[in-house]
Amino acid sequence: MFYDPRSEPHGLAHNPWTSLVVPRPIGWISSLSDQGVANLAPYSFFNAIAGIPPFVMFSSAGRKDSQTNIEATGEFVVNMATADLKDALNTSSAAVDQAVDEFELAGLEKAPCRNVAVPRVAASPVALECILNRVVPLTARDGTKVRSEVIFGEVVGIYISDDVIVDGMLDMARIRPLARLGYMDYAITEEVFAMMRPE
Ligand SMILES: Cc1cc2nc3c(=O)[nH]c(=O)nc-3n(C[C@H](O)[C@H](O)[C@H](O)COP(=O)(O)O)c2cc1C
Repeated sequence: MFYDPRSEPHGLAHNPWTSLVVPRPIGWISSLSDQGVANLAPYSFFNAIAGIPPFVMFSSAGRKDSQTNIEATGEFVVNMATADLKDALNTSSAAVDQAVDEFELAGLEKAPCRNVAVPRVAASPVALECILNRVVPLTARDGTKVRSEVIFGEVVGIYISDDVIVDGMLDMARIRPLARLGYMDYAITEEVFAMMRPE
């Protein structure tokens, strides 16, 4: 099959789009409102986009609390999503009022960050402390404004739990990162292999 998403229906029972770029890492984004209320929500249109210095991005389909908070304070944290935290992550995706603290809703402990005022998820083994770099609204080639805006962050602090460091490396068997597939499906990284690059 083939379709042009600008003009043709996919013709399937369910939209295949979210199954076509998989598995997607989940940026579990914490932020603070200008009133100081903590916010937590998962975003799977998310990735690390540069290493030296490290940058991340995520895309918000419409203005949500995370984007509002990040634009107000200039800070956010990306917490690593893991298999052990999947239910809390799902709970934190509820569309609740900005006055609701999703850490509390999901029964999650907060831990302080070092270089941003935003708290991290204490139980998550990795947290990336970010400062807002820029927000880029998406516009289609025909000039139509797209609903999604992309939030870029520069990573200014990196927390790694000592519990997941084995022989100087992050042990994925302990972390069991959670990723997003299409539809309502998720994947857990449980099998890892190494492959050397050709000379
Ligand atoms: C695994 C997962 C991934 C998600 N990815 C995105 C995403 O990439 N972009 C988006 O706008 N919403 C995404 N959502 C929905 C948001 O998490 C949801 O709208 C949430 O209420 C936003 O919270 P906020 O208003 O506190 O920012 C995702 C939800 C789940 C469960």
